[in-house]
Amino acid sequence: MLQQQTIDIIKSTVPVLEVHGQEITKTFYKNMFEAHPELLNIFNHTNQRRGRQANALANTVYAAAVHIDNLEAIVPAVMLIAHKHRSLGILPEHYPIVGEHLLGAIKEVLGDAATPEIIDAWAQAYGVIADIFISVEEDLYQQTEAAGGWRMFKPFKIARKEQESDIVTSFYLSPVDGEKLPEVAPGQYISIRLSIPGEEYLMNRQYTVTDVTENNEYRISVKREDDNTPNGRVSTYLHSDAEIGTEIEVSAPAGLFTLQEGSNDVLFIAGGVGVTPLYRMLQAAGGRNTSFIQCARNERVAAFTEQIQANANNYKAIYSDTDGYVTKEQIESMLTTGSDVYICGPAPFMQAIIGQLKDLGVADDRIHYEFFGPALAM
Ligand code: HEM
Repeated sequence: MLQQQTIDIIKSTVPVLEVHGQEITKTFYKNMFEAHPELLNIFNHTNQRRGRQANALANTVYAAAVHIDNLEAIVPAVMLIAHKHRSLGILPEHYPIVGEHLLGAIKEVLGDAATPEIIDAWAQAYGVIADIFISVEEDLYQQTEAAGGWRMFKPFKIARKEQESDIVTSFYLSPVDGEKLPEVAPGQYISIRLSIPGEEYLMNRQYTVTDVTENNEYRISVKREDDNTPNGRVSTYLHSDAEIGTEIEVSAPAGLFTLQEGSNDVLFIAGGVGVTPLYRMLQAAGGRNTSFIQCARNERVAAFTEQIQANANNYKAIYSDTDGYVTKEQIESMLTTGSDVYICGPAPFMQAIIGQLKDLGVADDRIHYEFFGPALAM
């Protein structure tokens, strides 16, 4: 445990670090990748470029530091990140590397203001936080194996492709070793890892599993993106270059944004390709009273519309090209008292919907969501 004096130093320096947060984490990544370029095989390069991951890590370390004497408060956030880490194959030996370069960056940016006492306090705090992550992640690795999954990545092949809309294509992935695939809780994702010709490093991305087939395949449904979006390079490769038989490395299912038991009434609100986890949850919600609002630019790009209409008790499509954005009144017309609401879509979409739900008096613990990409960058 940390001594009170150390905790006091941490707490009194959080505001200073927050002011320099962006700069510290930018320096941190630059130095770390210079010293350990092999880590570029793990990190999402686009997130780095946009500074999103920089924010996410900084926010978490600061959040942890603020709660350093009550770490219980950050357990939900830790679990979410630990699932992501586990799906990317993050290991205990990675933590000292991150720690060394994070502390080095604090020193570099703060200069003389970073006294040895301050650096020592942060080193101790980082150690506590890293130990929590390492132990939670080892538990997850073991649980994954116990559930019939595997550690790290293993090779799959693209068995089939199917077009779902003008911009969404499904890929059926079949394990090369032929082993029976473990169950996937509705809403969970897998990480895929690709070696793309012309790219120096491996690329990792997460995609919702939209089906587990009778042929022992995982299906992912991928939106065609512009090259300059976070998923662009991988999406372009999958849509344009990957063929039947192309090998892709896949990690075992992960993620906590899954359908929970709860109210009998469930409302799903999907924006764009955010439909993928909600569509899977809808299929698993048989017997409950389900409503589904599907927002998309137009009907040509919207995926799974027919299947959703066939499964949901109430369905409303809202196409922004012709209908504009979803309104509070439209949500209200699909909402019953005590409904559980699941939301998935781009961050601004989810922020807007969450605001509308709160205005409509929906309790926080009824609103379920997970932001795409670095969760805490919000
Ligand atoms: C993702 C925090 C250690 C690699 C994340 C995210 C957070 C975070 C907040 C975003 C989660 C999301 O996308 O929803 C932390 C903290 C750490 C730590 C607080 C130390 C205590 C590590 C280590 C590695 C690592 C040691 C490996 C060297 C990654 C990667 C991602 C990620 C690859 C995925 C996002 C991307 O590629 O941009 N981490 N992390 N993290 N973390 Fe960590």
